[in-house]
Amino acid sequence: MKEKLLEKFRELYGSAEGVSVYFAPGRVNMIGEHTDYNGGHVFPCALTIGTYMAVKKRQDRKLRFYSMNFEKLGVLESAIDGIEPEDAAEWTNYPKGVMWAFAGRGFLMDCGLDMVIYGNIPAGSGLSSSASLEVVTGFMLKEQYGFAVSNIDIALIGQYSENNFNGMNCGIMDQFASAMGKKDHAIFLNTADLSYEYAPLVLDGAKILITNSNVKHKLVDSKYNERRSESETALQELQEVIGIKTLGDLSEEQFDTYQSAIKDEIRRKRAKHAVYENRRTIRAVEALKNNDIALFGELMNASHVSLRDDYEVSCEEIDVLVDEAWKVDGVIGSRITGGGFGGCTVSIVKDEAIDAFRQQVGAAYTERTGNTADFYVVDIGDGPSVL
Ligand code: GLA
Repeated sequence: MKEKLLEKFRELYGSAEGVSVYFAPGRVNMIGEHTDYNGGHVFPCALTIGTYMAVKKRQDRKLRFYSMNFEKLGVLESAIDGIEPEDAAEWTNYPKGVMWAFAGRGFLMDCGLDMVIYGNIPAGSGLSSSASLEVVTGFMLKEQYGFAVSNIDIALIGQYSENNFNGMNCGIMDQFASAMGKKDHAIFLNTADLSYEYAPLVLDGAKILITNSNVKHKLVDSKYNERRSESETALQELQEVIGIKTLGDLSEEQFDTYQSAIKDEIRRKRAKHAVYENRRTIRAVEALKNNDIALFGELMNASHVSLRDDYEVSCEEIDVLVDEAWKVDGVIGSRITGGGFGGCTVSIVKDEAIDAFRQQVGAAYTERTGNTADFYVVDIGDGPSVL
């Protein structure tokens, strides 16, 4: 991969001497969905696919970007001064947002850069291609300019730029998983205080499988922001009757007792999901520690039902994938993963059932929706690196 980027760099900018290449991973979330902006727990892991960035400093203050995923756009140019979001900047709004957010914290770039970027996360799959682009940019800035930031800072800066530069009010999960990933481990993160713990996730006799629906519905970002504000309003209503900071502070029983404070039925369902999903996530990690994979799988299934019926972030295609997965012998659990409205499912499948899973789910999906699904066995990787 490094050679491929260096070759492109040479072709575009004349020479690849003194070029550094960086990588940051995408992520898949096992359980704990739409809990990260509700003060709850998440349980994601970093993938071995992600975003690569080849860079070299320039003598002037220009920035030149090139993506091997959007070759038609060619080299996009701007400058390190006066960075602001613009439609014409296309995908470069992500790395530029990170540079802007670093500058806002006093980390000033003293010269420009030539860059070549390549990502091998399938587009629109919900496996965090944007977070990996933000994290690889932050990691590169730290290495190139000697900015004193930790990987957690890089995650927070990435989230800040996505919220404030790109207008997507995401939580911290994706950037945290990318920046703090650890091979063969998932990250049990409490988003209320960013305390975290690594849990080994190599399953005896089973594998984690991602199924890509290859659909991405429109208005994903605006629906996401809408869910977020519904949850926030529900929290304010609950705060009138119980002293909590976030929905993550509530147990299921407390929610059931106080839920009538939420005046609207839809908001009540949203809040119920956030509370119950957080508790499911805590229980799922306990189950994993006790080697109770069957319980982990049941909690994944319950997570899907809640995301489908209460949080309403699934879609027909994803429901078909999950429904068909549940029918296959040897499937321990299956659910939608990521922000929703398309993208991927994540399943735990016994080794001997993997071929049947691909065949049965693949065929039924095509028959029922007319689309083709892609399958990947998950390889859990590390956080960002210099290649
Ligand atoms: C997207 C967001 C995350 C998280 C998930 C849902 O991936 O970027 O912060 O909210 O959706 O769990």
